[in-house]
Amino acid sequence: MSIVIETKDLSREYLSYQKPEGILNSIKGIWNRKYDSKIALNQTTLQIESGKIIGLVGANGAGKTTLLKILSGLVTPTSGDATVLGYRPWERDYKFLKQISILLGQKNQLWWDISPMDSFVLLSRIYDLELSTSRKRVLELAEMLQCTHVLNTQLRRLSLGERMKMEIIGALLHEPRILFLDEPTIGLDIVAQENIRNFLANYVKEKEPTIILTSHYMDDIATLADRLLLISKGNIVYQGTVDEFVKNSNSELAHDEKVDFEEVIRRFLETESRIR
Ligand SMILES: Nc1ncnc2c1ncn2[C@@H]1O[C@H](COP(=O)(O)OP(=O)(O)O)[C@@H](O)[C@H]1O
Ligand SMILES: [Mg+2]
Repeated sequence: MSIVIETKDLSREYLSYQKPEGILNSIKGIWNRKYDSKIALNQTTLQIESGKIIGLVGANGAGKTTLLKILSGLVTPTSGDATVLGYRPWERDYKFLKQISILLGQKNQLWWDISPMDSFVLLSRIYDLELSTSRKRVLELAEMLQCTHVLNTQLRRLSLGERMKMEIIGALLHEPRILFLDEPTIGLDIVAQENIRNFLANYVKEKEPTIILTSHYMDDIATLADRLLLISKGNIVYQGTVDEFVKNSNSELAHDEKVDFEEVIRRFLETESRIR
């Protein structure tokens, strides 16, 4: 099977300005700025095979979004290297951008003041898609997501769940080979979460894209992911199949103790964060 995402010692450090207290110190700070540095991603080396769904899991601030943003070309690494489909993402080659998509659940990517349908027309222009083809695709996806009735309503008037479905359609419009989904179900009620999860499961069966998915809901990961990537304080602490992870963790437990997937991951990450 072919490798579509590869990183070597990929790191990202952020510098943020430490704002001093008081006006006088603020003024002094203009000449003598103090910066805090934070290593969001630390020497990450990965290989991801084509057609797999990777569940990327870690605590808040672990570096998940940073990794996805680098791999999709939104953020430049500080050091190390990565290739996605043979391209360096941050060089933002148009041929690369046409084959990937990133969905940030915490952020709207469609236009707020127009209807999703109008947004999709604009996106079709950006991606150079035939309008009739993309319209057909929108209707198909909307049907699968059961949201055809809101396609022509201004985005700002939709519920969070409806908006997320529209974002998903926008992300899939150009049939990306690689999909980065950063918390696609965040804040949604259980029914909407399940809808989106089922939709993704069907979509994957049909189109076989490669996906890196982050979520706080372990049901998303357990249902969808073939492989797990656990991250703690910028370090990858586990890479492998979901089954193997559960098997290994269970063998370390006492005989009579039975814990679920979510609990196994929580305990593992807690231990990792203590030793780092
Ligand atoms: N633009 C930024 N400027 C400064 N620090 C940042 C920036 N983006 C992320 N960070 C820091 O990098 C770390 C990793 O963040 P992030 O990748 O968003 O984590 P996650 O998605 O796992 O919650 C956090 O400590 C966060 O505060
Ligand atoms: Mg994040």
